[in-house]
Amino acid sequence: MSKNRRLVTRRHALQLGLASLVGVGASVTVEAMRQNYQAQQNQALDNPRRNFTVVGQNSLKKRAAAKGLIYGAATEQVKLSSDIAFATHYVQECGILVTENQLKWIILRPTPDRFDFTPGDWLAEFARTHGMLFRGHTLVWEQVLPKWFGEVVNRQNAEKILVEHITEVVKHYSGKVHSWDVVNEAIAVSYSNRPDGLSLNPWMLFLGESYIDLAFRTAAAADPHTMLVYNDRWLDYDTPRDNAQRIAVLKLLERLKTSGTPLHALGIQAHLNASETRFNPKKLRKFLADVASLGLKILVTELDVIDKDLPKDIKVRDRIVASVYEDYLNVVLDEKAVIAVLTWGLSDRYTWLATYEPRKDRAPVRTLPLDSNLKPKLAWNAMARAFDNAPKR
Ligand code: XIL
Repeated sequence: MSKNRRLVTRRHALQLGLASLVGVGASVTVEAMRQNYQAQQNQALDNPRRNFTVVGQNSLKKRAAAKGLIYGAATEQVKLSSDIAFATHYVQECGILVTENQLKWIILRPTPDRFDFTPGDWLAEFARTHGMLFRGHTLVWEQVLPKWFGEVVNRQNAEKILVEHITEVVKHYSGKVHSWDVVNEAIAVSYSNRPDGLSLNPWMLFLGESYIDLAFRTAAAADPHTMLVYNDRWLDYDTPRDNAQRIAVLKLLERLKTSGTPLHALGIQAHLNASETRFNPKKLRKFLADVASLGLKILVTELDVIDKDLPKDIKVRDRIVASVYEDYLNVVLDEKAVIAVLTWGLSDRYTWLATYEPRKDRAPVRTLPLDSNLKPKLAWNAMARAFDNAPKR
């Protein structure tokens, strides 16, 4: 369509009162409608009278431990080594150190024939020195791979490379790791074209679905005492995507258990969205019971709350985010197979959501238990309250 014709069309549409159907008019109107809808949603989400009182001074790790639970957070070497104030709070609050990036292929495998354990070892040693558990994330994932991966891995060598990677890495940390995310995000119902929802990642393409069993068997052989976890996302809400994801994940877990694959737990990422209202406690609770009935433990592995569509007002925003934390954890902790709650970061000073889910108004995101000055927010209270109210394991 020529520029002139487009202008004429738009003017004509305006005359007809159809501005919303074309060009700029369309985006302005749709955006205004979206904002209006969001404002209504936010009002419904916020309860200014909700009580987030917490009893006592105990840290999150102590409150969790009192119920037989583990609390911890993902972090990186640079944050702990260069930010003493952060490291101090991290040690106070967390009973387990989760490796955010340092045990991903991109860091462990600078070249196809070399392993670099330096940053991972630093974190393992930090955890040991401070009496914390240590958790490995992740052995098999289609993202955050080194550049060479696509050029080197093929149908002929895929099995050898997968087995070699898992064996080397798991052996290296053998006896030091509370749990490993062996396979991360193998199911992607929203972009897989398969009925089982399996993502067509390189392992799947080259080895078929047995790559998952192979990964778990190899990890178990390398460290027979660590907990082996299947970790995945989109399991939290009553939406078509999450409903399908829960079914697909449950089917995969059943299949793995029936074939005797050494799998010990499900990791639920739980990157929650404060503006998603389709939260159905009954459905989530049922899913957890179904997973537990397979003899599996459950860990909430990457909990945080996306605040990008919430009002800018910090009081309102913090209240809504805290409500999301507490409502979610109350449901999840009711299931005794849940043994750990891990947040993806501890303080808003360092959160991946600042980059991955930024706010349109560019206001800093407020997604984690501590704010960017390391002060506890209502989200911290919400977690503390959920631990205090949880049944004992
Ligand atoms: C994220 C890290 O937080 C970022 O620093 C990195 O750039 C990309 O990965 N699901 C996962 C995690 O399983 O590994 C991701 O971590 C967040 C989503």
